[in-house]
Amino acid sequence: MKLIIAMIQPHKLPDVKQALFDADVHKMTVSNALGCGQQRGYTETYRGAITEVNLLKKIRLEIAVNDNFVQPTIKAIIKGARSDKIGDGKIFILDLPQCIRIRTGEEGTAAIG
Ligand SMILES: Nc1ncnc2c1ncn2[C@@H]1O[C@H](COP(=O)(O)OP(=O)(O)OP(=O)(O)O)[C@@H](O)[C@H]1O
Ligand SMILES: [Mg+2]
Repeated sequence: MKLIIAMIQPHKLPDVKQALFDADVHKMTVSNALGCGQQRGYTETYRGAITEVNLLKKIRLEIAVNDNFVQPTIKAIIKGARSDKIGDGKIFILDLPQCIRIRTGEEGTAAIG
């Protein structure tokens, strides 16, 4: 099992949701976040001297998947979020040792799917 965390541009969320839906990925957590990447948050909005980081609004997606869904999920996020411009986002993939569905007590791959 993996936990996929993606930081994307807020205006790309509808396209990413649709691409995930098309890939049969329906479970997700979505949060508002602030962040910056290698441009320190500036060149996307401002061309002045950079003296500190500038945090921009981003969407953070968290999706826990079984191993066979890792690649389809990554592909869908890229399909929905990519515009070939700086700030398109980043995907982090973490090993996920356990998942428990509280209602039934199911564990592992049965609880995620
Ligand atoms: N190394 C990192 N650690 C934690 N969060 C990161 C990291 N890199 C990017 N992020 C998060 O992802 C968001 C989007 O990053 P962004 O797409 O700007 O990455 P980048 O490395 O600057 O690539 P690009 O040059 O295409 O803009 C950032 O605003 C931040 O929230
Ligand atoms: Mg950037």
